Amino acid sequence: MRLDRVLANASVGSRTQVKNMVKKGRVCVNGEVVLAAGRAVDPNQDVITIDGEELAYSEHYYFMLHKPAGYISATEGRHDPTVLELVPDYKGLFPCGRLDKDTEGLLLIMNDGPLAHELLSPKKHVEKEYYVEHQSPLSKEDIKAIEKGVEYRDISYKGAKLHILDERSCTIVVQEGKYHEIKNIFLSLGNKVMYLKRIRMKNLILDETLKKGEYRPLSKEEIEDLKKLSI
Ligand code: URA
Repeated sequence: MRLDRVLANASVGSRTQVKNMVKKGRVCVNGEVVLAAGRAVDPNQDVITIDGEELAYSEHYYFMLHKPAGYISATEGRHDPTVLELVPDYKGLFPCGRLDKDTEGLLLIMNDGPLAHELLSPKKHVEKEYYVEHQSPLSKEDIKAIEKGVEYRDISYKGAKLHILDERSCTIVVQEGKYHEIKNIFLSLGNKVMYLKRIRMKNLILDETLKKGEYRPLSKEEIEDLKKLSI
């Protein structure tokens, strides 16, 4: 893997920042100063230092993936490709939460089990915002029902915040994270989700510079913010 990518993946800085660090001679690989950011390194073998300090590989990795449709949110898939095929091959990575195979948008991929557990815990009320295209327009009653909470096939869904964009699209903010939550909310009203994209999780907004299938490491600030959770 390229040296600048290894450094950026370790959330040392943005790709531009780490390129500058390399240019300034602050980065050594196996004891030798490396001035080419594109130099191939093996993050599992080579000793990389920045200003003399060794890059810690045992650290956690955190990536924001723009999930495309067609990939399953799992670490292994029998017939379908998994989202892990779209990110670097670091040990222990898993998707933090689940988006359906046909859902697109923001998916966190990390190897920090305790943080994922916290982020997914219903007790932490982490907001998830989706952009939805639906089959039929929402009536005033439908909007009220979604805001109050609905039931579908004996499962209840707490009230969600809705923002109507036009006749057939809206954004919706939920906190629960139940299986097929948004699709089931619409099904409970006899409506149907035609397209679903997650655009935000907590304060983390999908980076629109990421094309479908692309990922980027989270910045230190973004990671710190994710860790600030209500009790
Ligand atoms: N709700 C759904 O119905 N599907 C998703 O992928 C995410 C939320």
